[in-house]
Amino acid sequence: MVHGLVCWKEGLAVKGIILAGGSGTRLYPLTTVTSKQLLPVYDKPMVYYPLSVLMMAGIRDILLISTPKDLPNFERLLGGWLPVRGAVVVQGAAEPGWLGAGVPAGRGVHRGGIRAPWCWGDNIFYGNGLGRVLRGAVRDAEAGRASVFGYYVDDPERYGVVDFDETGKAVSIEEKPVHPRSNYAVTGLYFYDRRVVEYAKRVRPSARGELEITDLNRMYLEDGSLRVRTLGRGYAWLDTGTMDSLFEAGEFVRTVQRAQGLPIAVVEEIAYQNGWISREELLESARRYGKSPYGKHLQGIADGEIRLIDNSKTQD
Ligand code: G1P
Repeated sequence: MVHGLVCWKEGLAVKGIILAGGSGTRLYPLTTVTSKQLLPVYDKPMVYYPLSVLMMAGIRDILLISTPKDLPNFERLLGGWLPVRGAVVVQGAAEPGWLGAGVPAGRGVHRGGIRAPWCWGDNIFYGNGLGRVLRGAVRDAEAGRASVFGYYVDDPERYGVVDFDETGKAVSIEEKPVHPRSNYAVTGLYFYDRRVVEYAKRVRPSARGELEITDLNRMYLEDGSLRVRTLGRGYAWLDTGTMDSLFEAGEFVRTVQRAQGLPIAVVEEIAYQNGWISREELLESARRYGKSPYGKHLQGIADGEIRLIDNSKTQD
């Protein structure tokens, strides 16, 4: 049961879900008083990264699943100004995880047949052309196919693992296997169609006592409608589940931003490029961020001093 729904804007039609619940115990004491998804990843809160991913996929109506404890902070961070139409669903303590809150909250969405990507709030994706890949997954979901993304890792036993046959077709998907069949982890970004509500009802607790999203993905695999796209060397996928991976994610963002001289995951910039906010709204956001580099970047975009050419939408 979902505890409550706080809408920042009227008339919300949710199309994307960010799962930012959970207690984050693996990162204690960092997460003792704050949600993991509000921790900094170099220069911005973690949740900006999954937000930017959904926005690059063209998703503007976003539902964020959080806990009663963390809700006020998410509201303080995102409420009222966010250039997407957002809402927060509060997840009760007794219903952790994607199935407890994500499926009930998304039910209305899926019943309408609208595609609804889900993203763990602690996954970071980066790569040129990512928007194009994501829009391909959106089109697939509209055609009744689910999509997940495989990424080569050294430690597959920490993740859901997908294996492929010699033609590159996905043949198995297992959660945290002791003996992984491949090095391809399933990342925390999922595109489902309306069947997800029915499939989710069939998921039963695993041997480790959890409701695994991998079991849901396996149902799509077995009915022949799961598309697994691999994200190759041109992409980075970073999870932030451990102290080291959180630290490394921050280092990665810093390195990329310094190398290219531009920040990444700037949600207002994406909204502006997508035509969702006006120049005046962009300036308003810039003012909110004050003299920070993030604020100055937004100001530069609004003033036309930073001119970025985005060909990705025309290369589909
Ligand atoms: C979850 C999923 C796993 C997936 C991972 C990606 O794992 O269960 O299949 O590979 O997210 O971040 P968790 O982070 O809950 O261990």
